[in-house]
This record gives sequence, C-alpha cells and structure tokens, in this order.
Amino acid sequence: MKDRYGREIDYMRISITERCNLRCRYCMPKGITLVPMKDILTYEEILEIVRAAVSCGITKFKVTGGEPLVRKDCVFLVRNLKAVPGVEQVTLTTNGILLAEYAEPLAEAGIDGVNISLDTLSPEMFREISGFDELPRVLEGIDAALKAGLRVKINTVLQKGMNDTGWTDILLLAQDKPIDVRFIEMMPIGFGRMMEGYNNDQLIREIKMKYPGTKRDLAVHGNGPAVYYSIPGFKGSVGFISAIHEKFCDSCSRLRLTCQGKLKFCLCYEDAVDLMCILRQDKNEWQETPFQRPPQEQHEAQHQEQIQAPPREQFQRPPQPQLQTQLRNAIREAILRKPKAHRFSEADGVTEQKIMTQIGG
Ligand code: 5AD
Ligand code: SF4
Repeated sequence: MKDRYGREIDYMRISITERCNLRCRYCMPKGITLVPMKDILTYEEILEIVRAAVSCGITKFKVTGGEPLVRKDCVFLVRNLKAVPGVEQVTLTTNGILLAEYAEPLAEAGIDGVNISLDTLSPEMFREISGFDELPRVLEGIDAALKAGLRVKINTVLQKGMNDTGWTDILLLAQDKPIDVRFIEMMPIGFGRMMEGYNNDQLIREIKMKYPGTKRDLAVHGNGPAVYYSIPGFKGSVGFISAIHEKFCDSCSRLRLTCQGKLKFCLCYEDAVDLMCILRQDKNEWQETPFQRPPQEQHEAQHQEQIQAPPREQFQRPPQPQLQTQLRNAIREAILRKPKAHRFSEADGVTEQKIMTQIGG
C-alpha cells in the first residue's frame, strides 16, 4: 500500500526483544532497566500482526532486537513467519554472538539472510565498544552463516576517535567473501545522541582514494536505504546508510514494530499506533502458547525443562476475523501517518525518547 507521499510501504522491522547479550555504548550501555516479559509481544501476537500486515501489502520482514537470538525459540518464529501466506522475505539482524549455534537452524527455517552488526576487528576495541570480549564468537558466527549458505551483510557504525580508523579491516571482509559491508552513520537516537559518528561522505572519498575504480553498484541489495559501491577485485559490495548526510526518506518503505507492540512510522519521532492495545483489549493477561518444537528437541525439552510441548494445532490459533480487521485498520493508519522525512539534523527534530534496543534499529 502507498503512503500519502506515494511511497510503497512493503517492509516491516519487528523487534522481538529489547534484551541483548552485549552492552554497546551507543545502543544499550550497562545499567538499563528492562520491561517485564509480559509486556512484550508474544510470538502469536506478532504472527497475528504479520497476517494483517500482509493484507496491507507488507511482504518483507526483518526480525530485530535487542538481540533477537537471545529470545527463546526465535528460530521457530522465523519458521512460522515464513509459513504465513504472502510473506516473501524474512531476514534477521544479529550481533552474531549466537550465530555459530543458530546459523544452520535458521537456514533450515528458511531465513533469507542475516545482517551482522560488527563495528571493529580489533579485540580490544570490541571490548571497549560492546563491554564484552566476544569478537572470536562473532567471527565464528559469520563463518557459520556463510557455511550454512546464508546471505550475509555486515553493519558497521563508526565512532569518531574510537573505531573510525578500523574501517579498512572490516571492508576487507568483502574482499574474499561474498559479504556486503555497510557503514551506518550514527543516528541521534537513544545513547547515539551523545556520540560522535563518522561522516559517510568522507568515508566514501577515503575508500575511493584507497581503491581507485570504486564505482556505484546499482543492483538491488535489500529493502533498505543503503547506497552500494563495487570495488575492483572484491566479491562483496560496500554500502552506505547515510541517515545524516544524505536524506533517503523519499524511498522509505518501512514501518517499525517495537517489542511492546507500538507500530512506529519513522525512527525519528515517537508517534506510533498501539497494536498491543488492540491485541489485549479484552484480556488482563495474555498467556503465550509455547512453541511447537521439532520431535527431537521436543523430546529433550520434556526431559530437560519438564515442560509439555503442545500439539501442533494448538499453535495455530483459530482465525480471528474481527481482530484482523482492527489490526489491518491500525496498520493502514500507520502507513498513512508516515511523515515525509526525518529531522535528525535539526535541534529538537527528534521526538523519539526510546533507546535503539526498544525500537530494533
Ligand atoms: N545509530 C546508528 N545505528 C545504531 N545501532 C544502534 N544504535 C544506533 C545508532 N544510534 C545499530 C547497531 C546495530 C543495529 C541494531 O542498530 O549497530 O547494527
Ligand atoms: Fe546489542 Fe546490537 Fe545494541 Fe550492541 S548494538 S547493545 S549488540 S543490540
């Protein structure tokens, strides 16, 4: 469906948890209070929303966090998302820490690609930025994802005076492997407001200087606003998401669902429609039906966790036509209320008070 400015809105980012196993200084530093799990959308609720979204023409979905793989049964959510009629693409953004474990199951679940956040290849800098000594696990995760045949993109946020001199190392990941490396400008959202990012225009100039022959790559690489370049001799491309120095709002195609069920129109503003309110209107407390696990895991789960896995039918809730109508109307409203552009570079332009882990990037 088109918004008021003629943009086709066909992509939704879904944050399934605000929790994360890292504490990146610009995203979720130490000491953040988390909301209780009961206030987070259940997988069933997310699927209900996705069914309504599909009927509004939204066919591509990105599972985000926090770190989505820390939420139990994330792979089964992916499998169930892929099974919703009309869903064309499901991808996931992850910090890669748990990817060595989940790359293969995600591939089996039908995931269409993973974006891995990685800001540095220096172990010391990794610790400095993320609070943990986990760089080797992320690198294992990248290898596991490639081995599982997944399409891999790397997302890098450069910070002035921190990792800004390390871009050459990260870029080399695209040399021998079919990986797109994307540099995302620091956005003034959450703790990012207090950080100084790196100008992508300048970075492009530096890359062109180091690699003469770097040229715009006009192939479509994804749903996002990244502008791509190809470098002679590189298997992957280099992309730039320049929220600050190049306004890409004219081609925006997305809505963002927060883990608390708010459907946001734009990263910059707090405005949203509240889908949680629609989903839980006649219930004081929502009980999540546990996910159906594959037989082997189901067997293990029964022994390890002493829980009874439900029969498969139980997960498929009976269709709820009235609820679907209400959700569809709310999603349409969100599309029609999308603003023309962000105002990141204006003083008082940003009204969003949530931090990035609650929004999902
Ligand atoms: N600006 C840009 N990107 C950010 N991320 C988190 N906070 C910001 C910010 N303020 C990125 C992370 C990760 C994704 C979840 O969002 O680096 O790639
Ligand atoms: Fe976690 Fe990613 Fe945020 Fe770091 S940037 S705290 S890994 S969600």
